[in-house]
Parts: sequence; structure tokens; C-alpha cells
Amino acid sequence: MQLKLNGKTAAIPDDRDDELLIWTLHDTLELNGTRYGCGAGWCGSCTVLADNVAIRSCQISAAQVVDRDLITLEGLAHGDTLHPVQQAFLENPLQCCYCMTGHIMTAVAFLNKNPNPNPAEIDAAMDINLCRCGGYNNIRKNVLRASKLMRGQV
Ligand code: FES
Ligand code: FES
Repeated sequence: MQLKLNGKTAAIPDDRDDELLIWTLHDTLELNGTRYGCGAGWCGSCTVLADNVAIRSCQISAAQVVDRDLITLEGLAHGDTLHPVQQAFLENPLQCCYCMTGHIMTAVAFLNKNPNPNPAEIDAAMDINLCRCGGYNNIRKNVLRASKLMRGQV
């Protein structure tokens, strides 16, 4: 089986195509930027993009996304240039940052669809990801900052 991942093709051994995507990323492909949190589909820390839709990699097998364009945290930067969402979260990190990959990936999918959001729209979009440290004000601030970076307004 082959996955379309971060603009390349990734070969997955046939005996592993039914495992959860997050373990395929971690164990087979050694891409550890995606975080495992609740394992139950509600925290969002394991978020990756499939055709620019934020999905929970703890709730889907690699075989179920074989025809989709997958992006993980490792696929966001262009060479040494971080994605604007990564840049915004780097400038203003959260507390423990365990949830940060999920927030970054959700924000990328959201800003690709809505490049000029207002704070209420950001809150509504980011509400699907949890932060146990309560960093929601900074998450909103970072997504706003990223939207300005993406539009060249800084
Ligand atoms: S680890 Fe996947 S939603 Fe929490
Ligand atoms: S910063 Fe700790 S869980 Fe979000």
C-alpha cells in the first residue's frame, strides 16, 4: 500500500495497512510530530489533514486514507521556511504545547478555507481541539496572527 503524504509517496507494508494512521505515522514512517492524546476522537491532538480536511488520525486506518492527500506537521514548512501558522505558534507558544500540533493542523485547514476570519469564526473553528492548559486566548491570537502573515499584512 502507498500513501500520498506530504507531497511524496510513502510505502506501507501490507501487514500494517489496517493499523491506525497515527501508528503508521509514528512506527512505520517515524513521523512523530502528530501527538497521541485521548485516543478516543475528542481531543484533536492527533489531527492531520486529508484533502485539507482536519481528521483524527487515532480514529482512522491508513488504508482508509489511501486515496487522499495527507499532510502532517512535518509537511507544512517549505524548506527552511515555516508555514505561517507554525511561525505564529513559534512566536507565541502555548504552555506544555502537547496540544499544539493539533491546533496548528486545524488552523491550517481553517485558514485555507477562510483566510480573513474574525475572532468568533476562529473560536468556532478551533473549538474542535482541546487544550488542557487552557491556552485558548493565545490560540485565537496565534490564528489571527497567522491569517495576517498568510495575507502579507505584517
Ligand atoms: S488522540 Fe485522537 S482525538 Fe485525541
Ligand atoms: S498547552 Fe498544554 S495542553 Fe495545550
